[in-house]
Amino acid sequence: MHQLRLGVLGSGKGSNFRAIHEAIRTGRLDARVVVVCSDVVDSGILKFSRDAGIATTWIEEKRFKTRLSRECEEDLVERLRSAGVDLVVLAGYMRMLKAPMLEAFPRRIINIHPSLLPNFPGLEAWRQALEAGETVTGCTVHFVDEGMDSGEVIAQAEVPILPGDTPESLHARIQEAEHQLYPEWIGRFARRELP
Ligand code: GRF
Repeated sequence: MHQLRLGVLGSGKGSNFRAIHEAIRTGRLDARVVVVCSDVVDSGILKFSRDAGIATTWIEEKRFKTRLSRECEEDLVERLRSAGVDLVVLAGYMRMLKAPMLEAFPRRIINIHPSLLPNFPGLEAWRQALEAGETVTGCTVHFVDEGMDSGEVIAQAEVPILPGDTPESLHARIQEAEHQLYPEWIGRFARRELP
């Protein structure tokens, strides 16, 4: 079977990407990361990838903060296509995607979000759950659409909110769950178990 080729987009420290990379390295995930793209030139995800010998590319966008310009997004599509990407994996990528990407990779762009969607989309979802007085939150793998964390849910994992939790302690516990859930479900794409 054709080995699934991943294109990863991230803006931050890249802990989810490191978990995916580790799952591949240890043979738990049969896929290959063919390119890591970031809009943040000094991001942890780019540094880690370079050190690991993975091809990287920097997306230079100066005009907008929450999305890419059309030309820039079209250029990103070209870079992913020329790397032969099958599945686009967002791992802490902080901009919205628009038509060029969504039309180039229909149902082949996924994201992980730190709440049980549709609850608490947007920024600092762990803090939103804590402030709302929830006792359970979690993380969600979902398809990406034009909205903010609004695409179809693929999988979720629950994480308890414990007495005395701070935003930081809760976020750390959610991230542990993310690092399990994301590689596991990318594995289902790799085994062609998802439509
Ligand atoms: C994660 O919490 C993820 O849910 C959200 O962005 C964060 C990225 O963290 N989409 P990292 O860069 O993978 O450490």
